[in-house]
Amino acid sequence: MTGAPAPWALLAELTHACPLHCPYCSNPLELVRRDAELGTADWARVFAEAAGIGVVHAHLSGGEPLLRRDLPEITRAAHRAGVHTQLVTSGLGLTAPRLDGLVRAGLDGVQLSVQDARRVPSDLIAGRTSFRAKERAAGVIAAAGLPFGLNVVLHRHNLDRLPEILDLAAAWGADRIELANTQFYGWALRNRAALLPARDQLDRARAVVAERRKRPGPEIVWVLPDYYEGVPKPCMGGWGARSITVGPDGTALPCPAAYALPDLEPPNVRDHPLGWIWADSPAFNAYRGTGWMTGPCRECPRRDTDFGGCRCQAHALTGDAARTDPACSLSPDHHLVRDLADAAGDGPGGDFAYRRPPPAVTDS
Ligand code: SF4
Ligand code: FES
Repeated sequence: MTGAPAPWALLAELTHACPLHCPYCSNPLELVRRDAELGTADWARVFAEAAGIGVVHAHLSGGEPLLRRDLPEITRAAHRAGVHTQLVTSGLGLTAPRLDGLVRAGLDGVQLSVQDARRVPSDLIAGRTSFRAKERAAGVIAAAGLPFGLNVVLHRHNLDRLPEILDLAAAWGADRIELANTQFYGWALRNRAALLPARDQLDRARAVVAERRKRPGPEIVWVLPDYYEGVPKPCMGGWGARSITVGPDGTALPCPAAYALPDLEPPNVRDHPLGWIWADSPAFNAYRGTGWMTGPCRECPRRDTDFGGCRCQAHALTGDAARTDPACSLSPDHHLVRDLADAAGDGPGGDFAYRRPPPAVTDS
């Protein structure tokens, strides 16, 4: 190892296949085909190697990981490697027997997504009937007594129902709710005009969060709406600092949106051990630390706090991943987000471009 910090988490994107069609999907524009996915033994090796370099926590994610029939074997492999596992799921297909099999394989927790507090707007954003299935899945998770997180992506169409969303989390028995204000890269960038909230919607939502945090109920996590804040998010806790993403075909990345960075040449776990990928691969070292920084970040006292913001957002908005994140008010490109945030309204916002599944969906 070359002095890289030990990674803490592995995001295991087991498949890009998904039954939902959310306009804010964070998966790459080009999805991995089912027949190009890693096999069970590949994933077992990835978890063993991950544990060997310090990973303690894995998100079993997608797409929809329940579409992998070998999910119990994959979960067991992670458990045997000593890695804590959380299933990240839409809830579609999560029955009591299915969850029981995963728990017996060693699953440690579940994060369930829901799109809204009410059935009709939730199904509208998901692009299909799904709310009732999620409600049933929540009942299954709560009955199993597993640590239960609820994830809700926030945008102009659901922010005003935040009190109901928080009530729903409590009613469904969640221990924690993550309020993930939409991050605009990948597919979500296509739907930015339809999803950006008005500033006063966010002001009201912040007040709701502050008030609800004083009451008993699920722990509330508020993901920064960075277009509106003037400060960037410390994306991924720093590039190559805490987390590894392994995509369905074995592509290894420092963050799940980095597929879009054109010059990165990401390594693949089929070709290299994870230890080399983490410590020595050019991709994981490209923006590690502060030596790569340009513009105001170079001398900024916050550079060890926010790491210059998000490389993927810098690339998506300026074409250069090494520029200061335009979400930062000190960035020469800050007008790119400030003008959009100032102009955003809370009206209908136009039509969504819905996400479609990758080709060759055969394993459902
Ligand atoms: Fe962060 Fe760079 Fe902005 Fe400073 S100039 S606050 S390091 S993004
Ligand atoms: Fe890739 Fe922020 S999403 S660095």
